[in-house]
Amino acid sequence: MIRRYIYGKPFSTEAVTETIQASEGTPAYGAVSLEKGFSFTYLMEENDIVYGLGEANRGLNKRGYCYVSDCSDDPNHTEGKRSLYASHNFIVIAGKENIGFFFDYPSVLTFDIGYTRMDTLTVSCDRADLDMYVIEGDSPYDIVKQFRKIIGRSYIPPKFAFGFGQSRWGYKTKEDFRKVAEGYRENQIPLDMIYMDIDYMQDFKDFTLNEENFKDFPEFVQEMKDNHIRLIPIIDAGVKVEKGYSVYEEGVENRYFCQREDGSDFVAAVWPGDTHFPDVLNPDARKWFGDNYRFLTDQGIEGFWNDMNEPSIFYSTESMDEVKALLKKYVEEETETVPVGELGEKLRSLANNHEDYKRFYHQVNGERVRHDQVHNLFGYNMTRAAGEAFERIDPEKRFLMFSRSSYIGMHRYGGIWTGDNKSWWSHILLNLKMMPSLNMCGFLYTGADLGGFGDDATRDLVLRWLALGVFTPLMRNHAALGTREQECYQFEKTEDFRGIIETRYRLVPYLYSEYMKAALNDDMYFKPLAFVYPEDSFAARVEDQMMIGNEIMIAPVYTQNAPGRYVYLPEEMMFVKFSKDGQITEEILEKGHHYVEVALNEVPMFIRRGKCIPVADTAQCVEALDTENLTLLGYDDSEYTLYEDDGVHKDYDNAKNYRVIKK
Ligand code: GLC
Repeated sequence: MIRRYIYGKPFSTEAVTETIQASEGTPAYGAVSLEKGFSFTYLMEENDIVYGLGEANRGLNKRGYCYVSDCSDDPNHTEGKRSLYASHNFIVIAGKENIGFFFDYPSVLTFDIGYTRMDTLTVSCDRADLDMYVIEGDSPYDIVKQFRKIIGRSYIPPKFAFGFGQSRWGYKTKEDFRKVAEGYRENQIPLDMIYMDIDYMQDFKDFTLNEENFKDFPEFVQEMKDNHIRLIPIIDAGVKVEKGYSVYEEGVENRYFCQREDGSDFVAAVWPGDTHFPDVLNPDARKWFGDNYRFLTDQGIEGFWNDMNEPSIFYSTESMDEVKALLKKYVEEETETVPVGELGEKLRSLANNHEDYKRFYHQVNGERVRHDQVHNLFGYNMTRAAGEAFERIDPEKRFLMFSRSSYIGMHRYGGIWTGDNKSWWSHILLNLKMMPSLNMCGFLYTGADLGGFGDDATRDLVLRWLALGVFTPLMRNHAALGTREQECYQFEKTEDFRGIIETRYRLVPYLYSEYMKAALNDDMYFKPLAFVYPEDSFAARVEDQMMIGNEIMIAPVYTQNAPGRYVYLPEEMMFVKFSKDGQITEEILEKGHHYVEVALNEVPMFIRRGKCIPVADTAQCVEALDTENLTLLGYDDSEYTLYEDDGVHKDYDNAKNYRVIKK
């Protein structure tokens, strides 16, 4: 049962696709106050668990901290951070009462979940203009499924996107890309994608190619495709200000950029220097921006990642002017000792300053909306621009698309990656914990920068992280400029990396099948143990193991130098390890606690009692997988329903896509 309460004049985010009539009166749970903006308070029982918030810091159970929905480009995901790149305002309280809430509000929204007072949940924002959805259900899982039904079907990528991808900020020339392709192919480590970071562009201009390095680009795209590798370029939010650059000229001429109050185009500095932001909330501008992706699809490109779309601002003209004024003052007043506090504060506040978000506007259906009031919708609508354009470019075909910033609703147009993490062990665990929360909010095609983006990776960390990445739909190794090289072939004993990535490919038929079933049934691919074993109070507290699909549980190792880990089995399961040279070991483990040993070159997983999964022979790319001859791994006398399609087109609802295989 879903009820919708409307407060004030909400901005239509189009997060919810189903029409739900407004309810009269006040919600039956908690208390709403409109005295100072909007505030919702709910008294939690001692053992209540709070799920949700999608891409957010800390645990699967969100209790005991404060989270702020405010899409932020902050690459330091330390424990104290309250905002990351996305805003996913859906929570589920599980306990004595099971109840879900979606606060459809596109600006800063605070979730104090037992932080100020341990028993109190408070959700608040400055303006009381929002839709609040209240969802009653039999269980937290049931509530999630009801919510997923009203927000529309999750994005479905092409099947090649279930292969492994290599990325690094700093690849510049065709030779750089060829070296990566060779590094993988020569070491026989499977690979389907190489990502093109900002250096492929001419001066970081969207929808351009570096003139010197990428002559004859379509031939190069084809050369890579002949090697079964797809190039996946990045697109940034800001369009460089440069006379004669056609995207800039068209945007200015048609008034497609976000403007200041006085009607001039707002200027924000990002990678290219001064840029304008396309007004992706304006349907005309969105269409125009989306159509620009054709520049690359026409040359054979089939996938993209959208970045810097919080939108990230290094500084604005206005904020830089303030710094200049301060420096000028010091000079004029002949200040002997520059007040470092004052200057430091000013410099630190240059990037992603909330004041800047008040300095520009969107044109939405004839109305002017100040950016800060709809800030969390920018990445969503940039990705929607692309998604809608792909429908025009080739309505029959799937394109790979994922974004850094997002809001619920964007899950229909693309996936996400979790942004600039670090090569830290704690971030393997954070990666794992985020996955089911993202699924609750509709984001199924998800993954983190494997091996870590910032800081130097170590060999063991990359191996352990990849062993988790085997199970995340998006499996990509990505690293920042200046960090230690972390492509799999850069380390000793590449066969260990090969073994892990080969395991991914062996599991692709299963993982893809479970992904598709989740997407087509508005279900989750990653689930907390509690959703599958609701009667098991210990399972409800486990946060470092997750269920995948209907058959398996994963328990990755995320501690350096650990020979294995403790694991809790809510029922008897088959413990499976994929080891060197394609060896598979199986062992039945009883319900309860175990310590399992897992070597650095092994991938552990557990098959639920009475179930089995299909496993393929490995291949160097997804296309080369033989899905006709699958072996079944798991319990005897079990069967598995495999979903399979051509992975390219959209014939999803065809009964022919399902086949039962028996062990
Ligand atoms: C941002 C992205 C990162 C990318 C870098 C350069 O930090 O999050 O993935 O490598 O920009 O484009």
